[in-house]
Amino acid sequence: MGSSTWLGVAGAIVVAGCSAGSASAPAALPANPAAPLDCTPVDGLAPHLACTGLYADWASKTLAPESRAYAPAVSLWADGATKSRWIQLPPGSQIDTSDLDDWTFPLGTKIWKEFQLGGQRIETRMLSKTDAGWTFAVYRWSADETSAPLLLMGEQGVNGTSYEVPPINDCPVCHNGRKDKVLGFELLGLGQAAAEGLNLATLAREGLLTNPPPSTTFALPEDGTGKAAPALAWLHANCGNACHNGNSTALASFTGLHMKVLASQLMPGSGAAPTVADLDTFRTAVNVPAHIQLQGQPCRRIAAGDSANSLLPHMDMARGGAAGVPQMPPLGTNVPDVAGVQLVKDWIDAL
Ligand code: HEC
Repeated sequence: MGSSTWLGVAGAIVVAGCSAGSASAPAALPANPAAPLDCTPVDGLAPHLACTGLYADWASKTLAPESRAYAPAVSLWADGATKSRWIQLPPGSQIDTSDLDDWTFPLGTKIWKEFQLGGQRIETRMLSKTDAGWTFAVYRWSADETSAPLLLMGEQGVNGTSYEVPPINDCPVCHNGRKDKVLGFELLGLGQAAAEGLNLATLAREGLLTNPPPSTTFALPEDGTGKAAPALAWLHANCGNACHNGNSTALASFTGLHMKVLASQLMPGSGAAPTVADLDTFRTAVNVPAHIQLQGQPCRRIAAGDSANSLLPHMDMARGGAAGVPQMPPLGTNVPDVAGVQLVKDWIDAL
């Protein structure tokens, strides 16, 4: 079961490769950009970003007043791209937070994430909760940023770089990891001090959560190394939140290596402080034997005190299999997050 899941992902990557350059025909883009846009849905999706409701005025890129900006404290590495995010909740609605680890969003929720490379808008991804379930869409900006039509098949080698826009079929591979698909708009991402815009405290204050948590600002626990918290935050955002967690629909649930920090671990109850040793990340990784070998030798997921012989940072640095171990994450990235992985190595070496 585990390995077949893996092959599924590898297959998705190959499909992405085949579709490279096919720059799927921009749907319903008028030849004259000044002409009114045809917003007739294509495959149930708005054919152009201008049709999605993010902006009140497309020409000036003025956001709609109900588009609320937010940024999780630590986010998924995106091959060096910078990102902006907005959420729209239907007026008067609330997010069901009765399960603090798996929020359920009201019907009509829309979330956008815009990616910029070198200061230029490249793509805007969108999640939208409709009667028919969640839809995933990607809009690819033109070089002059006047147009952003739907792109179904993804694109590789954007602007001569190794940056890739994933095909829409790949979106659920990661987003299925949460019961209600949304990944970064969550307890820990919005509850750490570095979260921006619509954060956990603001959500609670505005009455947008059915069950606000007892605390709205969290610090991850530290251990004797003094280097645990940033490493744990990076592993949560890049590995645990989407795939390496206990949800059966999460891609890497079967590995038993779980790196999502859960509400019960952040707030152990009766006023007790959270501890690193209680986190899944520690319990399922540190000194736990790995199923994959490193340079032909058995190894541990994290070998305390020895990052060079720990599998985890090797996979996080690997891209394209060149290092002899599979790359992590397995899709959507061609450049490693050197600074982020260094946080993990620093923690491991100090353990
Ligand atoms: C490699 C895994 C992965 C793939 C593939 C992926 N995403 Fe995401 N996405 C994430 C993670 C992790 C976050 C949260 C962190 C962040 O916002 O940077 C996220 C955040 C988002 C958000 C902001 C709302 C949220 O869930 O936090 C949107 C919108 C989004 N993705 C859309 C898409 C679309 C559309 C696709 C397919 C074209 C896609 N994503 C493919 C992992 C992925």
